[in-house]
Amino acid sequence: MEEKYCENSLAPASGAEAVDFLDICKLRQSCRSFSDRPVEHDKLVKCVEAGRLTHSGCNAQPWSFVVVENPDLVGEIAKCGRQLKQNAFLGTAKAFIIILEEHAVLSPVISCFLDSQYYAKGDLGAAAAYVCLEATTQGLGSCHIGVYDRARICKLLNIPAEKQFGSVIALGYPADDVIRAKKRKSFEDIVRFV
Ligand SMILES: Cc1cc2nc3c(=O)[nH]c(=O)nc-3n(C[C@H](O)[C@H](O)[C@H](O)COP(=O)(O)O)c2cc1C
Repeated sequence: MEEKYCENSLAPASGAEAVDFLDICKLRQSCRSFSDRPVEHDKLVKCVEAGRLTHSGCNAQPWSFVVVENPDLVGEIAKCGRQLKQNAFLGTAKAFIIILEEHAVLSPVISCFLDSQYYAKGDLGAAAAYVCLEATTQGLGSCHIGVYDRARICKLLNIPAEKQFGSVIALGYPADDVIRAKKRKSFEDIVRFV
């Protein structure tokens, strides 16, 4: 994909509105009901592009992305996540992005102290967040799925059975536009300025 830069890297591209990142964080929520509207391929490209741009330890980028948009395959992947009753909603998902863990090459000054995959789990979590936040900016709903039949997904998508998964993310247009209040620990309870 062609890299595009703004003249001033902190300014929005000409004609674009500045986006308040915290607003995107507040709008992002786990979507558990998707509408029938199909998701445009271009929007999925933007979501994985956000994942690709994520920062990582030693810039190792220990990830690859499988974008599932073929409706038959989407239906099959949805079935893989439905072992958990609360994940029955996956039947309404219109796409999935699966983030796989790849071998991380750390810089030599770090790799003499740490295992190559030491940062990978955190890096993959960050990439998943970027994907979900970009989905929000595209008007899409997303839900990170934690319980799924990994072996079956590997078989369906021709992924080596030993491959570690980072995330399975369900995507689609939300069936409604209700933004729920966030359930989070209070700022005061978890933040300390010194
Ligand atoms: C690693 C991970 C696994 C998750 N697994 C599931 C899941 O299997 N099913 C589900 O409905 N939500 C799942 N979620 C969504 C969380 O329940 C949700 O992010 C959390 O309750 C906060 O709500 P919010 O995303 O709406 O802000 C998962 C989230 C993460 C980060």
